[in-house]
Amino acid sequence: MTDTTRDPALAVIVLAAGQGTRMKSSLPKVLHRIGGRPLVGHVLHSARALAPERVVVVVRHERDLVAETVLDTAPEVVVVDQDETPGTGRAVEVALDALTDFDGDVLVLSADVPLLDADTLGALVRTHRDAAVAATVLSAAVDDATGYGRVIRDADGWVARIVEQKDATAAEASVTEINAGVYVFRAQTLRAQLALVGTANAQGEKYLTDVVALLRGAGEAVAAQAAPDAAAALGVNDRVQLAEAARVLNARIVRHWQLEGVTILDPATTWIDADATLAPDVTVLPGTHILRSTAVGQGATIGPDTSLVDCEVGEGATVTRTDATLAVIGAGATVGPFAYLRPGTYLGDKGKIGTFVETKNSTIGARSKVPHLSYIGDTTIGTGVNLGAGAITANYDDLTKHRTEIGDEVHTGSHNVFVAPVRIGDGAKTGAGAVIRKDVPPGALALSVAPQRNVEGWVEKNRPGTGAADVAVRARSAQKADDGAQEEDR
Ligand code: UD1
Ligand code: CA
Repeated sequence: MTDTTRDPALAVIVLAAGQGTRMKSSLPKVLHRIGGRPLVGHVLHSARALAPERVVVVVRHERDLVAETVLDTAPEVVVVDQDETPGTGRAVEVALDALTDFDGDVLVLSADVPLLDADTLGALVRTHRDAAVAATVLSAAVDDATGYGRVIRDADGWVARIVEQKDATAAEASVTEINAGVYVFRAQTLRAQLALVGTANAQGEKYLTDVVALLRGAGEAVAAQAAPDAAAALGVNDRVQLAEAARVLNARIVRHWQLEGVTILDPATTWIDADATLAPDVTVLPGTHILRSTAVGQGATIGPDTSLVDCEVGEGATVTRTDATLAVIGAGATVGPFAYLRPGTYLGDKGKIGTFVETKNSTIGARSKVPHLSYIGDTTIGTGVNLGAGAITANYDDLTKHRTEIGDEVHTGSHNVFVAPVRIGDGAKTGAGAVIRKDVPPGALALSVAPQRNVEGWVEKNRPGTGAADVAVRARSAQKADDGAQEEDR
């Protein structure tokens, strides 16, 4: 976005000061997430896409936490604090104090209305300008208007006023055109009218919505534009609406990637965050969550029942029934089923992390395999390595973590323990059941298990009369007869 495309006559105010009582949460409502982003993050994202001259965000409840999130998302915004007077009208009034030198149009957005995209908001601004009115309200025709302010129109179709549900008469409450909580105003007119808004209503708050009737009283016109998609006007006040907003957003994201060439078998059980990216010809199987900034390369297959958080998956990789966070999976690699990749896992091209394997802070080189029942932590593995089933890196000695370093083309026996810090040289091998406490030189075979000793006839002597003893006696005499016959043959 360059400055030349900036709209110098547009400022955006984002209302984010409320507590969100109905969420019953210690986290401020606007920081609850859908699609991996906080509600206020979605709103800021749409606001930025309009390239306004300025964005002002109003905070109060948990102001530091909210301000930090806002500035992380959009460092260019101005954060202002609402005072003790409650209500959306007061919130806008304090925001206007940061816009005293601004004389264009003000787009007011509610941080708890997260699904409106920049196209819808841009169209609202254009309608407002074309109609040359003092205010334009974004409305929506809904089946159930419970909880929303109702848009009351006059005989000519202009907006006469907005009535909150708690202040509505039965007739007003039956209106199904709701206020989406998003408006465009002329800055100077808005400032003048807000000064006149009182708090004589059911909630004792200074309502922004009261400005509409005041404007009409002052001889100004107020228009309403219906959102093209009523679901996009959804406001999040409780956890039921939070889940509904998440579902609507997810359906939108899934559809977007399907149209970009991704096969998604079951949209209902597939969750993709707003910041994730998928290349064409990726296949996503049911029960899969592709979260945060995960990027999946062309032709990869993910799922079923897989969760990827901030991961990078290479072209043509296969990730099955896996839970992975902050992991990089190389091109053509295979992961799972039932793998757990913790932060700092790097799996090279054509590598394998197999069944019941946990990895952490480890690099597994190209074509290297950790196929079964293993824990690999704080480890560097070279290329072309094969670890036997049940490989465990003992990386923690109760005080500190230590690294295990395994060279190229190493093959280890089953059920090895690598007691870190330890190094296995290039091309080395280890025996089954080895506990590797000392470095293994390149090309050496490391054996740590005591030689096996067989105590002949132990079962016969110590467990006489048992089934085991009976079959053992029979097998031993058959063996003797066999050995005798072979002796005669010579
Ligand atoms: C508001 C509207 C209602 C509309 C609905 C749409 C008013 C009086 N009512 O109702 O007509 O249908 O949104 O979703 O405006 N906020 C502040 N400071 C405050 C109070 C709220 O910044 O003092 C912020 C909140 O953080 C929130 C937004 O304003 O992001 C809306 O506040 P909320 O209390 O949820 O209003 P609603 O009752 O939903
Ligand atoms: Ca609300």
